[in-house]
This record gives sequence, structure tokens and C-alpha cells, in this order.
Amino acid sequence: MRKPIIAGNWKMNTSTSEATELVKAMKKKLVSITGVDKVLCPPFVSLSLVKDLIKGTSIKLGAQNMHYERSGAYTGEISPVMLSGLCSFVILGHSERRALFEESDQIVNKKVQAALDLQLTPIVCVGESLEQNEAGETIDVVTRQIKAAFNGVESLQGTVVAYEPIWAIGTGKAARGDQANAIHKVIRSVIAQLYDDSVAQDMRIQYGGSVTAANIAEFIGQPEIDGALVGGASLKAPEFISIVEQTSKIKKTG
Ligand code: 13P
Repeated sequence: MRKPIIAGNWKMNTSTSEATELVKAMKKKLVSITGVDKVLCPPFVSLSLVKDLIKGTSIKLGAQNMHYERSGAYTGEISPVMLSGLCSFVILGHSERRALFEESDQIVNKKVQAALDLQLTPIVCVGESLEQNEAGETIDVVTRQIKAAFNGVESLQGTVVAYEPIWAIGTGKAARGDQANAIHKVIRSVIAQLYDDSVAQDMRIQYGGSVTAANIAEFIGQPEIDGALVGGASLKAPEFISIVEQTSKIKKTG
């Protein structure tokens, strides 16, 4: 049985005081929900304060990105060494990084390796654009991204994959549960090819893209979907709590 995992990607939102308020508004309820990994991914500048606020609880912390080098003349960048004492997860290869900051599959691959070398758990994002989707290229794109991200990676060490179709991100147009489930199945089969069946069966695959409290059940009810990477809805405490609560209930009974 794979433990479901819900992660909130706050993206470039919240000042440090807003981050504090948001954690305070969610903490008590989130802690009371069992059977789900709960991960908060605030901006870099709030990692330390969120770490203190969730100390000793079951809530986990993740970063939204990192550089692949451990140190050096990379003005403005954050290294895996810096993160390793601070958080346990790191989102890598988000489509916004790929599209807006020109992150290639090769760069994502270097980051995955660098994170694993320091025992950070990557949440590796893959997903097709609307154009690629309409051209029937979804499976090819996602397969290429997965193979590239894990190229030369010997052991996945709990790595999570997030399938985030770009056309569903921030648009309010989520994929259908069965559509996402089918792609998750493809991802799992690619992992089985690269590693083996047991590694593939153990890997948690999240869906991301316009997940809300109103549609989470549709995703979580699918056998291949092990959680969600939540953007906008993770900035609203009651909604994020509801997403985690529903996930716990559905996966426990389902
Ligand atoms: P939204 O939930 O806002 O669509 O964002 C999804 C996402 O990109 C999470 O990483």
C-alpha cells in the first residue's frame, strides 16, 4: 500500500508574515489527519520559519526548486546542501521552471541526482502542454520526461512523481480522474521498465492541475493516483485541510 501524499506548492506567494498566518491556520487540523503525508512547500525565504512552526508535528517541509551544484558562484541560487538541513522534499522540474526558466530535461536530471545524493526526496514534475495534448503526444512527452529525469539514477529512494498537465495548471480546467489515471499507469510502466515492478508499485504518483476541495475525490478515488500537488488551493487553509481530509478518508476506505 502506497501512503497518499498531498503537497501544497505555494509558488511565489506569501510574505513571511502571510506564510506564518497560513501555517497557523492549518496546523492543528492537518496534524489531526492521519494516513496521509502532508507537505508544505513555501518560498525559500519562509522555509526556516515554517520549519520552526511545524517542528515536532507530522507535517513535512519541501522546497520548490534548487540548483544542482552544492556551492559556488551562482548568484541568487539555493543549493541542495542548504536545503538538506532544512526540508525533506524538493519539487523539481515544475512546468513553470521548464517553461519560464528554460530548465531542460538534462538540468532536471542533474537536480534529481543532486537531491538524492543529499537524501532530499524529489517531487519530479512531468506533463504535456495543450498543444502536445491535442496532437496526441501526451504519452511520448511524459515518457521522455520520466526517462530523462531518472537517467543514470540508480536508486529512487522514495522519489515522488507529479503528473501535471500544463493545460490544467492554474486554469480551473482539471483533467478528468480517469484521464489522469491512465497517464499515471503509463508512468508506472515506464518506471517498471527503468527499474522493476516492485519499484514501480512503490512509487507515489501525484496528480496536479486545478485540484480543489470540490474535485479531489475524483482523483483520489483512482487506483493509480496517490495524492496531489496543489497550487492555488493550498493557499486557502480550509480548502487545503479539506483536500487532505478527503484524501485520508477515501484512501482508508477505498
Ligand atoms: P494549481 O493547483 O494552481 O492549478 O497549480 C498546480 C501546480 O502547478 C502545482 O504544482
